[in-house]
Amino acid sequence: MGGIPDPTVEQKRHSPKRNDTQERTQNTGMATQPLHEDMEQVLFSADQIQERITTLGAEIARDYAEKEPHLITILKGSIPFIADLMRAMDVPMTLDVLGVSSYAGTQSSGEVRLTKDLDDAIEGRHVVVIEDIIDTGLTLSYVLRNLRQRMPASVKVVTFLDKPSGRGTQIEADYVGFTIPGGFVVGYGLDWNQRYRNLPYVGILKREVYAGPF
Ligand code: IMP
Repeated sequence: MGGIPDPTVEQKRHSPKRNDTQERTQNTGMATQPLHEDMEQVLFSADQIQERITTLGAEIARDYAEKEPHLITILKGSIPFIADLMRAMDVPMTLDVLGVSSYAGTQSSGEVRLTKDLDDAIEGRHVVVIEDIIDTGLTLSYVLRNLRQRMPASVKVVTFLDKPSGRGTQIEADYVGFTIPGGFVVGYGLDWNQRYRNLPYVGILKREVYAGPF
C-alpha cells in the first residue's frame, strides 16, 4: 500500500541540483532551458530561429504557389528545421528523407555515403532539398548529383545555415536561413559526435569540448 506521497519528498526528488549552468544568463530563447555547460555562446536563440523560419517558409511557399514542392530532407541534422519549415509553408507538398553521412568529429571526411535512400521516385517533380548546414559543399554536391540523375522537373536547395568560408566547391543554396562565419556550431539538429542535436538554440561549442585541454 503506497498511501499519499509526502509532497515535500516528491518535490525534492524532482528538483534538479543548482549548479553554475543554471546561473548563466545568456538568452537561449527558452525560459525553461538554461545554457548548456558545454556551450561558449548562443548564436541564434529559439525565438530568433522561429522568426526567421516564418519569413523563409512564407517566401518559399510564395515561390511554389503554382507547383507542388516535393521536400527532401537530409538526415539527421535537418529534422528540427524541416519540422518547423514545413509548418511555415502553407502550400500542398509532399515529403521524403535521404540519409547521407560525411562527418567525423568537427571535420568533413570528404567521403559522402548514402545511408538511406528515398522512398519515392522524383522524376518530373519539383524537388526542394532541405539541408541543415552547408560548409565545404561536398555533401550537397553529392546529393544534387545523385538527385539530378533521377530526372526531377527542378531542384532547389534550402539550408538552415550557410558557412561560405568553408566552401571547397562552387555551390550555393537558393534559400538560406542564416549565414554564419567559420567555427563549429551545434544545436537545433546539428551535432558534434551525435550530441547536442536536441538543444532548441544554435550555439558555439566550447573549444575544450572538442579540442581537449591543450
Ligand atoms: P559539408 O559537406 O562540408 O558542406 O558539410 C555538410 C554537413 O556537415 C552538414 O550537413 C552537417 O551534418 C555537417 N556540418 C558542417 N558544419 C557543421 C557544424 O558547424 N556543426 C555541425 N555539423 C556541421
